[in-house]
Amino acid sequence: MVFHKINVTINGGLEQVVVPSNMTLMQMLRESLALTGTKNGCSAGECGACTVMLNGEPVNSCMVLAVECDGAKIVSVEGLEADKQLAPIQEVIIEAGGVQCGFCTPGILISSRAFLDRNPNPTDEEIREALVGNLCRCTGYVRIVEAVKKAAGIKMVATPVASD
Ligand code: FES
Ligand code: FES
Repeated sequence: MVFHKINVTINGGLEQVVVPSNMTLMQMLRESLALTGTKNGCSAGECGACTVMLNGEPVNSCMVLAVECDGAKIVSVEGLEADKQLAPIQEVIIEAGGVQCGFCTPGILISSRAFLDRNPNPTDEEIREALVGNLCRCTGYVRIVEAVKKAAGIKMVATPVASD
């Protein structure tokens, strides 16, 4: 097995991590850095539970090798809050009842945040399209879409994420 030393900025902090060639970004976050907010739903790029931001774009972290992230900026769900305050998107998804078991929630929060950064005034259809890669098997999507719409309305995009 070949190991690599990589430097990554994770939630605003620089980390040096030694990773094997076949380790995924998801495994690095969960196993090497104890950032277990990123969930493993399928390990196959199908469910979106492992979504994180990689250089500002949402990606399925189970589909990205850790070694590819040398020099990158990663934001996981742990990086959304600021000064120990939940980000508005986190507040509103709770208020809207958009969380049941919560397994999909970290991925949905990251995808929503990345989407609202690009489109601060979305339609319901655009929100649904943005979240098409994030599967929720218990809450359904009505309340999640409602939460994203509400977050857009309170200009949550003004809140910096840890990588900003
Ligand atoms: S765990 Fe990565 S897409 Fe399901
Ligand atoms: S809240 Fe359970 S999978 Fe979405």
